[in-house]
Amino acid sequence: MNIGCDIVENKRLENKNDAFIDLILTKNEKLEYQKKGLLYLCGRFAAKEAIMKAMPQTKNYHFLDFEILNTEDGIPYCVNQKNIRISISHEKKFTIAVVIIF
Ligand SMILES: CC(C)(COP(=O)(O)OP(=O)(O)OC[C@H]1O[C@@H](n2cnc3c(N)ncnc32)[C@H](O)[C@@H]1OP(=O)(O)O)[C@@H](O)C(=O)NCCC(=O)NCCS
Repeated sequence: MNIGCDIVENKRLENKNDAFIDLILTKNEKLEYQKKGLLYLCGRFAAKEAIMKAMPQTKNYHFLDFEILNTEDGIPYCVNQKNIRISISHEKKFTIAVVIIF
């Protein structure tokens, strides 16, 4: 089992260009980002950084290696890695994510 966390200052991800977004969000995540805006992007960014901290350090991972969507109840989950649990929380200035990999 492994754990990772990350915190993002929301304003750091404000007004990022399309090239940056393309590096961070998958196609499905981008559709949600268009509806939900900055805090959604911050949540994906923090969660993916947290996942990369928790993954075995034998491989270089990229943001697009992980797709994080939400269940109908809102619970964030990693589509392509079933052994990951994610929790995200937003405040006005910061977003935090905690991840467990088992
Ligand atoms: C869901 C809930 C925890 C969100 O808390 P909040 O303080 O308003 O908002 P936070 O910023 O801390 O959390 C938002 C994040 O929580 C996560 N989240 C949303 N619903 C969730 C749930 N049911 N369980 C776990 N995590 C949830 C999401 O990742 C969301 O961020 P994202 O949309 O960027 O992915 C809160 O509304 C709550 O406790 N609701 C009661 C339980 C509930 O409504 N369950 C859903 C039944 S349909």
